[in-house]
Amino acid sequence: MNKISRASLIGVGKPARVGDEKDGCKIGYIHAEMLAQSPRIQLVSGVDLQQENLTIWQEKFGIERGFLSLEQMLAEDLPDVVGIATYVGSHYPIIEKVARAGVRGILCEKPFLNSPAEWAKLRSLIAETGVKIVVNHMRRHQPLFQEIRRRLLAGGIGQPELMSAGVAGWDLSEWGAHWLDLFRFFNDDATLSWAFGQTRTRALHSFGHCMEDHACGYFAFSNGCRGLVDGGQALGSATMVIQGSEGVIRVHNEGKAEIFTARGSELLETDSYGPAVWLAPWHGLLDWMEGGGEPDLGATNQLLTSELNLGLYLSALHGDRVDFPIRSELAEWPVDTIARKNTSAP
Ligand SMILES: NC(=O)c1ccc[n+]([C@@H]2O[C@H](COP(=O)([O-])OP(=O)(O)OC[C@H]3O[C@@H](n4cnc5c(N)ncnc54)[C@H](O)[C@@H]3O)[C@@H](O)[C@H]2O)c1
Repeated sequence: MNKISRASLIGVGKPARVGDEKDGCKIGYIHAEMLAQSPRIQLVSGVDLQQENLTIWQEKFGIERGFLSLEQMLAEDLPDVVGIATYVGSHYPIIEKVARAGVRGILCEKPFLNSPAEWAKLRSLIAETGVKIVVNHMRRHQPLFQEIRRRLLAGGIGQPELMSAGVAGWDLSEWGAHWLDLFRFFNDDATLSWAFGQTRTRALHSFGHCMEDHACGYFAFSNGCRGLVDGGQALGSATMVIQGSEGVIRVHNEGKAEIFTARGSELLETDSYGPAVWLAPWHGLLDWMEGGGEPDLGATNQLLTSELNLGLYLSALHGDRVDFPIRSELAEWPVDTIARKNTSAP
């Protein structure tokens, strides 16, 4: 029988949305609800900068300990694993503090890393401390997406040529990162060759950073497949379309997909989300900590999703194609740099 790991959640979530939906989705509530159903993890504390957020979350989920200071939590009640559900700009500094304090496993929310400069730092930190990190791109565990990947890898629509998706009302990162990561998943995590990105950036600021009003990303995998993501608007009537040399897959609302080939058409329908999808990243982390292999949500692979996300913004910033691996020492969220460049333009 596996031991029960003690977990702390950093960034428990705003209790209610303020203004529009881009003002916080309180993912900390989903983690607490799902972890309550895990036989392997016990959530023992929460950390947040806001006392009100902590109090309401602790009462709702019956979590005994709450801390306004990360350092205090690490000093008084060191957990086996932590979840980081704060905004992208705080991920690396929290990861570093937690790893140096002796925590061996971290689940980090997406978007993973704030800047190209954090990459090198994260790799050194992992080498130095041995900390194991998974990123919560949990859609890789969604049954429909797993079935689509199986069909693609089995040649069900021939050679995949173009994967496209729109994200109505959201950016390339807070939501779009899921599609970027899924397109990598569908391509068996093939390496990326290049990316073109463009953004329309005005005054939007949320999740602790500047967000584009509208953006597009077009990129190529080394296997020849291309990806196209519209961050801001839907692309036609389907959530996602995958074109292959011998067929097409149209995905609707994450729970239903239609496959069209010369042989005919087929409908795939699965349950979208349940505890199994949300707990799989946490349990994959524990399996890895207990001697199993690094999961595809592990940092080694997830650095490449982060690189794609940042590469699209670097292309928008420099007005040029970005070739992978990216070479940049930028030390802030690229959309912050783009916003500053726009406001200083004559
Ligand atoms: N995996 C998913 O499907 C999914 C869904 C929603 C949100 N997210 C991600 O989760 C992150 C949080 O989003 P949210 O919607 O829950 O936001 P939110 O505003 O509801 O919650 C964030 C919480 O973090 C706290 N916080 C901020 N900085 C902190 C710090 N340095 N230390 C401790 N606490 C801090 C805030 O006070 C707040 O309570 C974002 O990066 C978002 O992209 C992921």
